Amino acid sequence: MHRSAGFSRLGFVDTNKPTALVTGANKGIGFETARQLAQQGFTVWLGCRDDERGKAAEAALADDGDVRFVQLDVTDPESVTAAANRIGDEAEALDVLVNNAGIAIADGEGFPGAVQLETIRQTFDVNFYGALRVTQEFLPLVRKARAGRIVNVSSTMGSISAALTPGSVGRFPIFAYPASKTLLNSLTAWLAVELGATPIKVNSVCPGFNATDLNNHTGTQHPAEGAKVVVQAATLPADGPSGSFFDANGSVGW
Ligand SMILES: NC(=O)c1ccc[n+]([C@@H]2O[C@H](COP(=O)([O-])OP(=O)(O)OC[C@H]3O[C@@H](n4cnc5c(N)ncnc54)[C@H](OP(=O)(O)O)[C@@H]3O)[C@@H](O)[C@H]2O)c1
Repeated sequence: MHRSAGFSRLGFVDTNKPTALVTGANKGIGFETARQLAQQGFTVWLGCRDDERGKAAEAALADDGDVRFVQLDVTDPESVTAAANRIGDEAEALDVLVNNAGIAIADGEGFPGAVQLETIRQTFDVNFYGALRVTQEFLPLVRKARAGRIVNVSSTMGSISAALTPGSVGRFPIFAYPASKTLLNSLTAWLAVELGATPIKVNSVCPGFNATDLNNHTGTQHPAEGAKVVVQAATLPADGPSGSFFDANGSVGW
């Protein structure tokens, strides 16, 4: 993870400090992931779509380490490019990319026979296309790291095998959200194939059921607990897995 000291275009930087970008970092699991990575000594960019919420998160995490707000709306190509340029100006490489930003829309959700196509489109726009857009934009910077890690924050609800298992906890009468996570898992698998000859590891994780705005705080654990497996995937050793899907208890079926 650690690189040797050197000079950036902006002057001397301590390049021994690993770098991370967490999307959707202003609250919930992303916020707690950013906190834990900062506490481990990472320089953490908080990718947030809203300036005010991003600056508030940066202030709230200031005591935890080196955190830097960067405006980043995963659905806006210009915003993603600008964020990549900014981070590329300040860092020589990106050691960790956490695709965490995600939404779940109640309006128009339902089983495939009833779900509204607009709900699918909006959900995929953030949860799948957003993660893909960010990954494509930041991949050149991740490739510059000694051993990059890409973490896609998925959900057991995106597991097709769980969907087909009667009584599975992930079985809700919805389609847009779980399908968006299934696609995200597909991105994990194919990106791991693409990067198989590099030291970069790409994994999907399920953070468990956390009390956040996403589920109106019905989750059963604090997002700091859910963030632990995200951080685990972000800091995998050289012999860790790639192209895997796991949670705090181990492997999750695709
Ligand atoms: N909570 C759970 O139990 C659970 C379980 C499994 C998986 N997950 C996944 O964990 C991730 C984080 O969810 P959470 O529970 O922490 O939800 P959350 O508290 O609602 O946080 C979601 C984050 O994503 C951001 N976001 C949404 N749209 C965005 C966009 N277009 N561009 C950039 N950021 C955007 C939000 O920013 P704003 O504040 O600006 O809206 C917020 O920072 C999601 O991918 C979710 O699917 C959650």
